[in-house]
Amino acid sequence: MSALGASLLEKIDARTARAGVVGLGYVGLPLAVELAKAGFQTTGIDLDARKILAIAEGRSYIPDVATSDVLELHRAGRLDATADFAVVKDLDTINICVPTPLRKTKDPDMSYIVSAVEAIAKYLHPGMLIILESTTYPGTTEEVVQPLLEATGLKAGADFFLAFSPERVDPGNPTFQTHNVPKVVGGLTPACSQLAAALYGSAIQTIVPVSSTRVAEMVKLLENTFRAVNIGLVNELALMCDRMHIDVWEVVEAARTKPFGFMAFYPGPGLGGHCIPIDPFYLSWKAKQSGFDPRFIELAGHINAGMPHYVVEKVADALNTRRKAINGASILIAGVAYKRDIGDMRESPALDIMGLLHAKGATVSYADPFVAEVRGREWTGGFDIQAVEMVKGTIAQYDCVVIATEHKAFDYAALAAEAALIVDTRNAIKTSHPHVFRLGAPAPEGQRERIAII
Ligand SMILES: NC(=O)c1ccc[n+]([C@@H]2O[C@H](COP(=O)([O-])OP(=O)(O)OC[C@H]3O[C@@H](n4cnc5c(N)ncnc54)[C@H](O)[C@@H]3O)[C@@H](O)[C@H]2O)c1
Repeated sequence: MSALGASLLEKIDARTARAGVVGLGYVGLPLAVELAKAGFQTTGIDLDARKILAIAEGRSYIPDVATSDVLELHRAGRLDATADFAVVKDLDTINICVPTPLRKTKDPDMSYIVSAVEAIAKYLHPGMLIILESTTYPGTTEEVVQPLLEATGLKAGADFFLAFSPERVDPGNPTFQTHNVPKVVGGLTPACSQLAAALYGSAIQTIVPVSSTRVAEMVKLLENTFRAVNIGLVNELALMCDRMHIDVWEVVEAARTKPFGFMAFYPGPGLGGHCIPIDPFYLSWKAKQSGFDPRFIELAGHINAGMPHYVVEKVADALNTRRKAINGASILIAGVAYKRDIGDMRESPALDIMGLLHAKGATVSYADPFVAEVRGREWTGGFDIQAVEMVKGTIAQYDCVVIATEHKAFDYAALAAEAALIVDTRNAIKTSHPHVFRLGAPAPEGQRERIAII
C-alpha cells in the first residue's frame, strides 16, 4: 500500500480519521451514528435543513435510530451535520448515501449522485477515501463517480481511494440493523478495498470483500431482483389460486415446511418502498445498454404493478355481493405505509389503490397509526387526507374496509366483528368470515356463485 493509504489506514485504526456521510436519510443517519459510536468524529452533510437542525438538537427523525444515541453522540462532539460541503476539506472518509430514484420513463435518475460527487470534488484532497452506498447499476462507481472525482486532477487508487458498498438496511427490522448486517465491499484497487473494509470493520460486525466495485454493485441488484421476481411469482400464483378456488396463503404456509430448497414469499397488494420496485430497473436499464434483454425483471415488474388493479377488482366483486358499486361507496383503507409497523409511504401500493378507487367514484378514507396525513401530491386523488382512527363504533359506517398494510396495532378481531365488508390483501384476518374477501383465496362461503370465473 502507498504511503497515503498506509497513513489513512493508521488513522482509521486509531479512530483519528474524520468521517463524513453525505445524505442523512434512512441509510445515511444509521451509518453516521454507527461510525460515531465506533469512535470517529463524524459529520453528516445533507441539503435538508430540517435534518441538520434535528442533529443539532440531538434528535433522531428515523425510527430505527434512537434519539438518545443522537443526543449522546452530538453532546460528546462525535456527531454533527451541515449543508456546507466545505467541511469535506477536513474529512478523511466519505460515504455517499443519496437517493437513486427512477425517472418517469423508468430510467435511472443519477442527478443526486452527480450533484453530491461534484460538490465533494470541489474539496477532494489527497489521501481521502470515498465510498458510494447508493443502490445503482453496475459500473456507476467507475463510469460516473471516478471521472467526476478525477476531473480534479487527482487519480483514483493513487491519490484518493474509491469503493462501492451496498446498503442493506431493512427499516423496522428489530433484529438486523446497520451494525449486524454483513457489509459487502468492493474497491477500485486492492488498497481501496482494504481501506473501505477497515472503515466498516470498525463499526460493522462482518465484512464481505469482493473483487471489484462492479461485483459489489451487482450484489445489491441481485438481492433486490431476487425479491422482486419471487414476489412477482407468488403474486401470479395468488391470481391463479383465486381463479382456481385455492387458498394461496395455505399453500405457502405448507410449502415453507420444506426444510431445504424453498423460501417463503407472500403475495400482497403490490410492491412498495424505495428499493424493490425501483432497483431491478436500474439493472434492466444497464443490461439493455449492453444489448441484453432482462426478461424476468420486466415480467415481475408487470405482474407486481398490476396488483393494485387486482385489489380494486376484488373490492368491486365484494361490493357486488351486496348489490353495491365502487361508485358512491365509502371505503376505508387500513394501512397506507408500504409495509407493516413503519410510516414510510414511498411507492406504497395502498396509494395506488386509493387513487384507483377515488377515480371510480368511491369516497376514500384511510387509517394508519404511523401516517397522520397523505398529501395531495402523494396520491392521484390530488387532495390532502388526514388519517381517521379505527376505533370501535366507527367501522360499520364504511361500505368496505381494504386491509392494505397489516400493522400490528390494528385490532383485526374487532375489525372483522364490526366491518360490513373486508378485502384483506395481507391475510391479516386468518379466520374465515362470510364478509371477508382475501387476496388469492376463494371467496367466502355463500358468495362464490356471485364471483365470475372466466
Ligand atoms: N431506505 C432503504 O431501506 C434502503 C435500503 C438499502 C439501500 N438504499 C439506498 O440507499 C440510498 C439512500 O436511500 P435512503 O432511503 O437513505 O434515502 P433518503 O431519501 O431517506 O435519504 C437521502 C438523503 O440524501 C439527501 N440528499 C439528496 N441529495 C443530496 C446532495 N446532493 N447532497 C447531500 N444530501 C443530499 C436528502 O436530503 C436525504 O436526506 C438510495 O440509493 C437507496 O436506494 C435504501
